[in-house]
Amino acid sequence: MKLGFAGSGNMAGAMARGWAGCISPPELMLFADSGSGRAQALADEVGGRRVASLDELADRSDVVVLAVKPPGLDDAAGPIAGRVEAVISVLGATPLARLEPALAPSPVLRTMPNLAVEIRRGVICHTPVGASGAALDGVLGLLGSLGTVIEVDEGDLDPATAVMGCAPAYIALAAEALIEAGVEAGLDAELSGRLVSEATAGVGEHLRYRQPGSMQRAIASPGGSTEAGLKELAARDVRAAFKAAVEASLERMAGAR
Ligand SMILES: NC(=O)c1ccc[n+]([C@@H]2O[C@H](COP(=O)([O-])OP(=O)(O)OC[C@H]3O[C@@H](n4cnc5c(N)ncnc54)[C@H](OP(=O)(O)O)[C@@H]3O)[C@@H](O)[C@H]2O)c1
Repeated sequence: MKLGFAGSGNMAGAMARGWAGCISPPELMLFADSGSGRAQALADEVGGRRVASLDELADRSDVVVLAVKPPGLDDAAGPIAGRVEAVISVLGATPLARLEPALAPSPVLRTMPNLAVEIRRGVICHTPVGASGAALDGVLGLLGSLGTVIEVDEGDLDPATAVMGCAPAYIALAAEALIEAGVEAGLDAELSGRLVSEATAGVGEHLRYRQPGSMQRAIASPGGSTEAGLKELAARDVRAAFKAAVEASLERMAGAR
């Protein structure tokens, strides 16, 4: 499959790096930007090709990943609509009711990937394929090589985005704060970073098998050091802070529509 990227920014780059390193990469990846030079840089990095325009992208691609910012939808969709077999949209807060008329008659899969697609450990939420199922089958297979693909109702996509798309940044913030705390406690910065990243990776995997509450109880023995730390977090209402972060993300998504 020849895969075009309309947009060569952060998310396009993460997906392209993921596909470049997978067992069955796309036959060819093609990249367009709006003049920054990021398309050429990404093509050089992953072994793809830069194209000079979205017209050329549509001519040379079977499937296009639409990876511009949401306000750029109409400009980017015009040259692609009806000229490719399918479009994968990664646009945040942009419903099918906006995507489908802009890209018709090409079928559109509305998706929300997170940044870990870069290492093929992403989560990719998508809306049901509906009547365009056959045309989008190959697309779902392609996305599967970037991580775990989960179908959600379109009404659930914004809250899903808040907890799988935005939340990795919140977790990265927590990791950064812990690394800094380790350094303040006397650890070398590199060692502190390694300890936190390995521990965080282990927690991520462990949470697949153990509930978060059960994990906290298993670590925090009464009167012990973890319990003391959890009490400090509770006193600062860290739980409420995370909930407020999710609410803020949801409000921003609602405001963008
Ligand atoms: N970043 C994330 O973690 C994330 C996660 C999930 C979904 N998303 C979604 O992914 C989309 C892109 O986000 P991003 O963070 O990757 O943005 P970004 O880094 O700003 O990249 C946007 C890209 O679109 C290009 N572009 C804009 N208009 C164009 C046009 N008419 N023709 C060709 N290229 C055009 C830009 O070109 P220039 O390089 O020339 O400016 C840039 O390469 C957004 O809709 C966002 O909601 C992002």
